[in-house]
Amino acid sequence: MTKEEKYRELLQEVEALTAAETDEIANMANIAAAIHAKMGFHWTGFYRVAGDELVLGPFQGPVACTRIRRGRGVCGTAWKEGRTLIVPDVEQFPGHIACSAFSKSEIVIPLLRKGAVFAELDIDSAETDAFDAVDETYLTRLLATLTYPNR
Ligand code: SME
Repeated sequence: MTKEEKYRELLQEVEALTAAETDEIANMANIAAAIHAKMGFHWTGFYRVAGDELVLGPFQGPVACTRIRRGRGVCGTAWKEGRTLIVPDVEQFPGHIACSAFSKSEIVIPLLRKGAVFAELDIDSAETDAFDAVDETYLTRLLATLTYPNR
């Protein structure tokens, strides 16, 4: 199966999983589990904005840092800049926070509500250069299940 085919199936799974549920944490938990199981990433999870920090949310994979300051690491930078970051080699990213020595590349997608970042999806791969525009496109569509106007 190609990456696109996997993502298309994943999108249907996630839409079905979240359609009848309005609780954001429950949906984050199932979304993280569905992505992780289907795509085989090293770490898949959410950070939520709490004051001036990101706090660890639902995730799958090894234990992770619980709090990240705004502007720190890949996650804190994506929050500060309000945009998706794809890092092909985390060792080349100034200030990268190494939660796991196995993480080689990373994608972080901020979730916005009323123009403000309220959470992020963070995915780590054990391979360098694992993420591209295909991942960004499908993951962004998938995250729309969390930010439908009626949610
Ligand atoms: N590497 C991230 C920290 C979170 S963990 O990868 C789960 C960063 O630099 O922000």
